[in-house]
Amino acid sequence: MKTEKREPEQYVDLGHSELENHLKTQAALYEKRLKEGTAANKVAAFFATNLLGFAYHYLKSRFGPKAAYQFYPSNGDDGIYPMHTYSDTVTLALVSDWATDTRESDQIGYLIRDHDPDYTIHLGDVYFVGTPEEIATNFTDPDASWHFGKHGSLALSGNHEMYSNGTAFFKKLLPAMKIRKGPQIATQQAGFFCLENEHWRIIGLDTGYNSTNRPLLEVLFKPDCNLRDEHLNWLTEVVKLNDPNDKRGIIFLSHHPYFSSFRDDHPVVGRQLKKAFGAAERPVLWFWGHEHRLSFYNKYGFSDGIQAWGRCVGHGGMPVETNPPDRGHLGQLLFYDQRIRERIRRRDVGYNGFALLSIQGPAIDIKYIDQNNHTVIAERWTVDPMGTLSSEILEVHPEVTKYE
Ligand SMILES: [Fe+2]
Repeated sequence: MKTEKREPEQYVDLGHSELENHLKTQAALYEKRLKEGTAANKVAAFFATNLLGFAYHYLKSRFGPKAAYQFYPSNGDDGIYPMHTYSDTVTLALVSDWATDTRESDQIGYLIRDHDPDYTIHLGDVYFVGTPEEIATNFTDPDASWHFGKHGSLALSGNHEMYSNGTAFFKKLLPAMKIRKGPQIATQQAGFFCLENEHWRIIGLDTGYNSTNRPLLEVLFKPDCNLRDEHLNWLTEVVKLNDPNDKRGIIFLSHHPYFSSFRDDHPVVGRQLKKAFGAAERPVLWFWGHEHRLSFYNKYGFSDGIQAWGRCVGHGGMPVETNPPDRGHLGQLLFYDQRIRERIRRRDVGYNGFALLSIQGPAIDIKYIDQNNHTVIAERWTVDPMGTLSSEILEVHPEVTKYE
């Protein structure tokens, strides 16, 4: 009870913090940037066929040793953060492949700000290659359009952060990711985390660190993105994912997809998680990015891995792909946003967007919001006392058709 009574005081404390002041400064600069359109890049520069552009940034930054892996405990932090809110609903914005410093990424950043969530989480990929300058223009410059949630922000690494060896991800981005931990403000210490309350655990997984290995070769022969041993130890020994008495609903976040009907699967991660769960294994909801599209899957898993309902939200800031699926797991694909926003350089480009989670007790309402602030899909997830998840679709944009 005592802790709950202190909430307003903590809010006041936070109100005077560096984080809150930063938010206020940003609000003024957002307007300026919105009006003057000062984003440095054009979204067309990020087409997958822009090989020269990519090669330039890649070759400039790719060589040299990989940044040392950071893991918990670190500076007294165990990477577990209790969820906070000032109302009865915790709100959380998830956005992936967002950091392009384009007009589109600004638009999504401002929209997230307008929804004023408690938390904001980036699921990885800072373009082109996650250099200190790219972290600054997207996240930490006074007029950067990343919106810091009222109770904080967290970030995962994608493959692009690792194309510059991950140094700026660990040394620039993570120190900027501040998050409430009880009465304290913590700074993200590792590329994974657990945000939790009585009913839910939202666990960010680091598939980025092992998404690169040998320069150049990795572009052709893609690494399997496995979770490091330190990460797996944290899942079992600190998070205690294997505790059969813990029946909270599990939501995973990662940059790379567990499975896909469009591009590569990453089955090894699901296999590692099965082992980490042990007897406590249960199907999970899993958000990922990496593919620049919005897509929804029914429950699926490889025979030696966990079962998951997949949600791809990689449509944060890159040119969004709208092409139909052309490979495996087609039976599991429920929806994908195939709507065309415009043609840029004779290519169809879809709508950017993000996911907004509203967590209230055992239920989570999730809205997938596009750059025009329209709801593409709305769904509700519920966890029962046995830790079993169920869901229903609440709304589908009239131009989005069910995949069959
Ligand atoms: Fe990626």
